[in-house]
Amino acid sequence: MPLPLNWLEGPGEIANAAAQHVATLIARKPDAAIALPTGSTPVGLYRRLAELQGKGRFSCPQARFFNLDEFIGLSLDDPRSYGAFLWQHVFRPLSVSPSQVQLLRGAAPDPAAECRRFDQAIAQAGGLDLAILGLGSNGHIAFNEPGSDWNAGTREVVLTEATRHGQRSVFGREADVPHRALTMGLRTLREARAILLLIAGSGKAAAIAAMLRSRPDRNWPVTAILDHPKLTILADRALDPARAAGAPPAFPGSPGA
Ligand code: GLP
Repeated sequence: MPLPLNWLEGPGEIANAAAQHVATLIARKPDAAIALPTGSTPVGLYRRLAELQGKGRFSCPQARFFNLDEFIGLSLDDPRSYGAFLWQHVFRPLSVSPSQVQLLRGAAPDPAAECRRFDQAIAQAGGLDLAILGLGSNGHIAFNEPGSDWNAGTREVVLTEATRHGQRSVFGREADVPHRALTMGLRTLREARAILLLIAGSGKAAAIAAMLRSRPDRNWPVTAILDHPKLTILADRALDPARAAGAPPAFPGSPGA
């Protein structure tokens, strides 16, 4: 089965296509349960949704939102937490109410209980209608690092040095990046009714190469979702290795291009 991969013209086109994807889902199912990523890749999507809402072409007063992951030890008051990121970039701009939001709490006193609570909240929502994902340089999705169990639910994980290095700009110094995090598991992501994977930014060549090999590989967590029946991948054409190798450009936006 060919990968449902769309090479698009930069972050702007990815943001437009991703926003359309989300708007279409919410038009069909206003109370959709959606897992949201942090990082630089999805910021354009969030901005585009706020623009659409400003023009009266999008609103999500009944949608339910979950974060994918969170650093252990950071509370929502900490501007470096993923929860704070989502409030800043998504929930406040879209006027989402706290009752629509379920966040993993990194400062919860009992992380295992927090993970159980979160899995129950997802189950109570009827499972995820859509998991939106970014891609880590080592192929991680959410904080499922290389070697992650494909059957795992939400749990505490130890971050790799590569991942901590990638987060240093948020924390100022690499030494301040937490070593542990809570993350939705690969099982939860695989069980989502649809998955939207967004790929942009630098340092992802090896992860993209692993994805393009399209073989299940525990060392590359992104390969856990490639056989999902409702997967859409939107990727920056600048990262297409065929293009870098000088191959003729594929037809713009064609699936599998
Ligand atoms: C972090 C997050 C991932 C995200 C990744 C990529 O590791 N846990 O969910 O996909 O960063 O971030 P960026 O979009 O900035 O490249």
